[in-house]
Amino acid sequence: MIITLVGGGSTFTPGIVKSIALRREELDVNEVRLFDIDKERQDKVAVVVDWILHQELKCDIKLTVTNDPETAYTDASFIFAQMRVGKYAMREQDEKISLRHGCVGQETCGCGGMAYGMRTIFPMMQVIDDAAKYAKPDHWILNYSNPASIVSEACRRLRPKARIINICDMPIAIIDVVAAAMGIENKKEIVYDYYGLNHFGWFTAIEHNGRDIMPELRAYIKEHEILLPAAYLKDKAALAPNSSKGNRHAKGSWYYVWKGVYEIMENFPDTLPNTYLNYYLQQKEFVEHSDPTHTRANEVMETREKNLFDGIDHYLATGVVDENVFYAGSHGDWIADLAIALKNDTKARFLVITENRGALPNMPYDAMVEVPAYIGKNGPEVIAQDPIPLFQQGLMMQQLTCEKLLVEGCIEGSYEKVLQAFTLNKTVPSMKVAKEVLDDMIEANKAFWPELK
Ligand code: NAD
Ligand code: G6P
Ligand code: MN
Repeated sequence: MIITLVGGGSTFTPGIVKSIALRREELDVNEVRLFDIDKERQDKVAVVVDWILHQELKCDIKLTVTNDPETAYTDASFIFAQMRVGKYAMREQDEKISLRHGCVGQETCGCGGMAYGMRTIFPMMQVIDDAAKYAKPDHWILNYSNPASIVSEACRRLRPKARIINICDMPIAIIDVVAAAMGIENKKEIVYDYYGLNHFGWFTAIEHNGRDIMPELRAYIKEHEILLPAAYLKDKAALAPNSSKGNRHAKGSWYYVWKGVYEIMENFPDTLPNTYLNYYLQQKEFVEHSDPTHTRANEVMETREKNLFDGIDHYLATGVVDENVFYAGSHGDWIADLAIALKNDTKARFLVITENRGALPNMPYDAMVEVPAYIGKNGPEVIAQDPIPLFQQGLMMQQLTCEKLLVEGCIEGSYEKVLQAFTLNKTVPSMKVAKEVLDDMIEANKAFWPELK
């Protein structure tokens, strides 16, 4: 059984491979392949991947590292995709161009997210086509490549038969934080209900061993004025911007994100919002506390990326690996567990981005929504929910329409439709601003975007 990682040079690759290797029996995996278009970057990451597989975990999983699609995909059963088209250099542009115009500058939300989406749609279709050509006929592509919402809508439009499931680790990252805050050791005992679009959703119920923990969670957030476990904030040295220790969520700009959960719940306490709703509900405040010359892209380059590559150099020089340099845990566990559910037809419940098909009765049938589904060998079976409230429906319809227009504009090469998408986005204050940002984005993305007429 072969698993291919697309974007093998990703900072998340070592953690994902570790999660795969720890599940080697259930996955019955005997080869992991890394595929990337950046040879130098991937070859470096492969050094630590090799160490994880063959030194740390001492397993007999073969590692293949390639830049050739045929070698990467031939006979693969699973393709885990995690490309960052345009890399951090373009993420930095997405964030900074938006902020320069007074708009939210964020990786996946607002103008930055739309620009990233326009870069990623066609490379993602290439992955789907290469997998269809070379991989096993019953392969599955599990996609983390962002912006997952826009990517999933493009997959639905352009490759409706593709065997792809788009996923996100934010809801489980939130559950990790909830578990730590509530002192729950085994987070698998937590069951939750959720609905939304990707990076645009709400937890409606959270239970621990059948007990509703929403009231005490609400009280915790109110008392601490933030949704972060006190333990994450205790070790001040780990909170230093460039420390390789500590939880990334407690540092730098992420801190505001968890603070924002408190602020949103002060007004709308019924549900637990996905942290990404901050960018849409507190857009003005986000722009105000952003540093337009130093954004999250800079933080990531100075921390996660630097620590990983410095750590690899250190290993090559000394033979010693400091595990803190690579990111491991829920992100890799989530994708590997999803593969187990598909492979072994377990019908386990997962939150996935999938076509609505009536799950949310007052959202369009073809909307790509993020909802719980049972996962078996044929993919997600969505679970019917009650109609969603008018406030959330209104927000979701605006965001969904924006994403649909963007994808349509990208496919048709239509400047007008893409401008409509930018104008409709809740993070953009006016049509004039939308046009100014779009025109700068076109300039910055010349090497990546289709031509807009
Ligand atoms: P990264 O830049 O470290 O890694 C991305 C890799 O993708 C790079 O090595 C790059 O060369 C490669 N790449 C770019 N274009 C490619 C193409 N066309 N084909 C093959 N490889 C290509 O980025 P990262 O911070 O590790 O993140 C990786 C991706 O995972 C990003 O898209 C990020 O947004 C996404 N991500 C998603 C979630 C989620 O919840 N869905 C969570 C974490 C990260
Ligand atoms: C969460 C989201 C991802 C996003 C990531 C950004 O995990 O679910 O979709 O890519 O955060 O994290 P970063 O550390 O790169 O800002
Ligand atoms: Mn995500």
